[in-house]
Amino acid sequence: MANDKVSIHGAWASRWVFILAATGSAVGLGNIWKFPYMTGMYGGGAFVMMYLVCIFMVGLPIMLAETLIGRRGRQSPVNALRTLAIDSGASPKWSWAALMGMIAALLILSFYSVVAGWSFDYILSMGSGEFTGVSGGAAGAAFGALTADPVRLTLWHTLFMVITAFVIARGVVAGLERCLRVMMPLLFVLLLVLLAYSMTTGHFMQGFHFLFDFQPERLLDGVLAAMGHAFFTLSVGVGAIMVYGAYMPKNASIGGTILTVGILDTLVALTAGLALFPIVFAAGLEPGAGPGLMFVTLPVAFGNIAFGQLMGTVFFVLVLIAAWTSSISMLEPAVAYLVERTQRSRVLVTSVLALLCWVVGMGTVLSFNLGAEAKFFVFADDGFHLFQWGAEGGRNFFDTIDYLTSRILLPLGGLAFAIFAGWVLKREVVRDELAMKSPLLFSVVYWLIRVVAPIGVLIVFIAELSK
Ligand code: PFF
Repeated sequence: MANDKVSIHGAWASRWVFILAATGSAVGLGNIWKFPYMTGMYGGGAFVMMYLVCIFMVGLPIMLAETLIGRRGRQSPVNALRTLAIDSGASPKWSWAALMGMIAALLILSFYSVVAGWSFDYILSMGSGEFTGVSGGAAGAAFGALTADPVRLTLWHTLFMVITAFVIARGVVAGLERCLRVMMPLLFVLLLVLLAYSMTTGHFMQGFHFLFDFQPERLLDGVLAAMGHAFFTLSVGVGAIMVYGAYMPKNASIGGTILTVGILDTLVALTAGLALFPIVFAAGLEPGAGPGLMFVTLPVAFGNIAFGQLMGTVFFVLVLIAAWTSSISMLEPAVAYLVERTQRSRVLVTSVLALLCWVVGMGTVLSFNLGAEAKFFVFADDGFHLFQWGAEGGRNFFDTIDYLTSRILLPLGGLAFAIFAGWVLKREVVRDELAMKSPLLFSVVYWLIRVVAPIGVLIVFIAELSK
């Protein structure tokens, strides 16, 4: 049953590098930017509770499934699924699930790059002292001015895509590893500093209650959003963790590793929420403000504390780095696949894919300004329209891509990966990869992958459909 294959793309030096890479992938804009604003939009505690359930019952088992498939296959997700399916006597069409995930990851990268690019702008304006003593209203206006300017947005989007492509083109995480070792702990420290500041606002308990008080009537409001976000924040359902699993040493224990990544990711999100909401309330801002939440509250916080100019600048540098270590993992599955398939150079493949994502990302750039009226998926009185300019309902381009990926493609991808690991791969293969000492623990984990995670995803889909 032993499996000594190695990936042609390289291998991590140790289990720790996998933890670093997977945590780098998981901790990103999803934790610091998206989690707080989604919690604000979906009613606080009810959302947080659903989110935690989804992370531990569904997200982590799927992360485990992805890692073990990747490590067993030692190839890009598409080829890993194809080979393992054939080895298990199943249809090679299983690889389509990974193909879908790969496309979802590229779509996420397209808008992620635009938002990450905002941090460049904030590094400059923080650094130049533009936010010193700023009020909530003025910070909101500054954010509005940035998103209204397509040229500035395009510039930063381009720059972010270039640095993402640069790392991937140079090869698997070499060089980045050293940077990550310093930056990830620093990110934690700065979050804690921010948390300490928010405790001085006098609204800390209001923020705390908002995050953890539980209103049962809002539980169903955000259930699909919470599930989608659990996938997004853990980077599962697209093959990003799977491709990192392919570079993981054979002797490393998958279970403990994944639990560490999951706990770190959750801690960062909760800390970000606890740090941001008291500031939101103290500045009289709206918790449901949407995507601008972090970009409005952080300047208020840093603009009004000692050394805020310096700390704020460093903080946005770290947001950028957190986003960067996530964005590379979105590109890697597709790059690995195309290198395997076309035998072309990594540099060429990376450049073509990054350009493609850049073009799609321009749709997101424009959805904050010139193209704000371009609406997709419009359900109107006269029926359904895929696209309508200036429609009442519907979603703009950014919201459409976000919805399509987080709410539909990621959960479907995760469902497929869990079913594959749980029902297609032989039990002995899974047991060999997980190499758990306790048979009882193995049975519980195997059951989570086979039954609980798939049913969890299905229940959430059905709950949403019947709303
Ligand atoms: N997990 C990342 C975050 O929370 O920001 C986002 C992400 C990374 C999603 C990688 C998907 C992915 F493949």
